[in-house]
Amino acid sequence: MTTIFEALRESHEIQRDLAEKLLQTSGDSPGRRELFKQLKNELFAHETAEDRYFYIPLMMTDPGLNITRHALAEHHEMDEMIEELTETEFSSPSWIAIAKKLSDKVHHHLKEEEHAFFQQAGKILGDEQKQALADQYKTEYQRYKEMKKDILVKS
Ligand SMILES: [Fe+2]
Ligand SMILES: [Fe+2]
Repeated sequence: MTTIFEALRESHEIQRDLAEKLLQTSGDSPGRRELFKQLKNELFAHETAEDRYFYIPLMMTDPGLNITRHALAEHHEMDEMIEELTETEFSSPSWIAIAKKLSDKVHHHLKEEEHAFFQQAGKILGDEQKQALADQYKTEYQRYKEMKKDILVKS
């Protein structure tokens, strides 16, 4: 059986890979547009499912309150950088500077989740809950991946 932590890590690997590849692109190229779209959709599906089936249950506990607030604030910061990138000309030199900031934030956030929050959550959630949340997370993640953020949210 998969636990919620294993399920979350799968998307983390995809995010790291996409963020690295995005930084290798230059100018207003099809490659940059495609990788940006993929990263945007990946972050959106992961954050939504993670908020609902990892952080919200944690937030309902006293020891989980602080890590939840911290993580949700970082999700919001990443969303804002994604919006900034959506609104900036792909050919502008500032585009890659914002993308670098986003990539650094993504790496920092995933590291903190994997090295600190997951350990703390491991002590808070019960074994059955860890497995049930994994199933719920995966269903929600898949649902949002199929939706695509561009269709859902006008930027
Ligand atoms: Fe995550
Ligand atoms: Fe997260």
